[in-house]
Amino acid sequence: MLTDTRRFILASLCAFLLVAIWNPLFTPVPAYSEESQPKKSLYERMGGYDVVSAIVEDSIPKLWDDPQTASFFVGMGTDTREMLLQKNKNLMCYNTGGPCKPFNRPLEKVHAGLNVTDKEFNVLLQYIKKALIKHHVGSQEQDELMAKIEGLRPYIVQQKEKAK
Ligand code: HEM
Repeated sequence: MLTDTRRFILASLCAFLLVAIWNPLFTPVPAYSEESQPKKSLYERMGGYDVVSAIVEDSIPKLWDDPQTASFFVGMGTDTREMLLQKNKNLMCYNTGGPCKPFNRPLEKVHAGLNVTDKEFNVLLQYIKKALIKHHVGSQEQDELMAKIEGLRPYIVQQKEKAK
């Protein structure tokens, strides 16, 4: 038979356990909470400079050989092509929240008079998309980057369609 004191201790223990289980104060607080961390930049989520660099290298040079766009780059020397790539790497790095400093001339000035069409702009988009897939960039990040590049269209395409 339980004495009154033992019965009291047992009852107190049960009451304590009940409270401990149900009271949210006893719920363990995770040491790391995703929400408390600052959101990572698109640059970081894409994989940083190596991935940005690879995307530029796997897309822009394709324009040099594609029959739809090659004529824009005729006569462009190796050094200028290298510089074009580096300018685009810095620009993509900067526009996605990375630490690079862009050093290109304003896009609308550089492309003024080239008469790049929407169709020719889309050729580049296709190559960029392929490069993103090749380098395993997440689908959310792909969408974010493509939206940013789409936002540059008015600076690049300055005529709707070339006169035939
Ligand atoms: C989002 C799309 C594009 C971006 C971000 C972009 C960016 C750039 C940049 C940063 C430069 C170098 C500017 C400088 O020298 O300071 C450049 C030059 C050039 N881009 Fe683009 N470009 C885009 C699309 C295109 C397309 C679709 C074409 C043609 C099909 C094109 C043709 C050229 C040419 C020919 C140059 C050299 C212009 C010159 O130095 O006279 N670009 N572009």
